[in-house]
Amino acid sequence: MSEISPSNLLEQLQWRYATKAFDPSQIISDEQIAAIEQSLVLTPSSFGLQPWHFLVISSQEIRQQLLPNSWNQRQVVDCSHFVVLAAKTSMAEADIDRFLERQIAVRGGSMQELSAYRDMMLGFTSSMDADKLLQWAKLQTYIALGQLMTSAALLGIDGCPMEGIDPVAYDKILDLPSKGLTTSVACALGYRSKEDAYAAVAKVRFEKSELITTQ
Ligand SMILES: Cc1cc2nc3c(=O)[nH]c(=O)nc-3n(C[C@H](O)[C@H](O)[C@H](O)COP(=O)(O)O)c2cc1C
Repeated sequence: MSEISPSNLLEQLQWRYATKAFDPSQIISDEQIAAIEQSLVLTPSSFGLQPWHFLVISSQEIRQQLLPNSWNQRQVVDCSHFVVLAAKTSMAEADIDRFLERQIAVRGGSMQELSAYRDMMLGFTSSMDADKLLQWAKLQTYIALGQLMTSAALLGIDGCPMEGIDPVAYDKILDLPSKGLTTSVACALGYRSKEDAYAAVAKVRFEKSELITTQ
């Protein structure tokens, strides 16, 4: 593995900002978008259950429908690719078994060997009602959002995480409920416009001493 230096990492994280104005003429390359998609796939989740699905939308037709349901934030239509992070609305026994079957296909082993792990996961999911389970799944999608933003920044791709969206309208436009999904959060990806004044403003963060305790 070739690691990046601390100064390189911080340089990229300083470079990253919530892009308000994208240059619509600049499109992310296929190779880069493939890496971004794989970074989403590689996102860790609680128990590894991956209670999510990601929609990577380049279609202008769909994005024009999303725009008025996104506080008319132009990032939705001006970015190169618009990612909607959706959470699974349920996590049934069958979903856990599907995950374990996948684990067996990848790593080998048997359902019998994994039965204690299965019971533990089932105990965890069945301890929550539907609302709590959905809340948990939505929290998981934010891990993917963080991974997405950092991955994009490391590739020199701009992004804007977006909660200023109407999840109910998004669900309808994207036909998510029929797939057992609901909109959690979104992220516009692309390249900053030269006119975006936000690119040059200093970051507003509390002092490190206020945010981090070293013991
Ligand atoms: C979960 C989340 C949702 C956000 N939603 C929006 C949004 O809808 N529109 C927007 O312009 N910025 C949005 N932001 C950007 C934040 O305002 C921004 O990240 C924050 O002010 C820090 O600035 P920086 O990212 O430029 O360092 C969101 C950020 C996060 C993490």
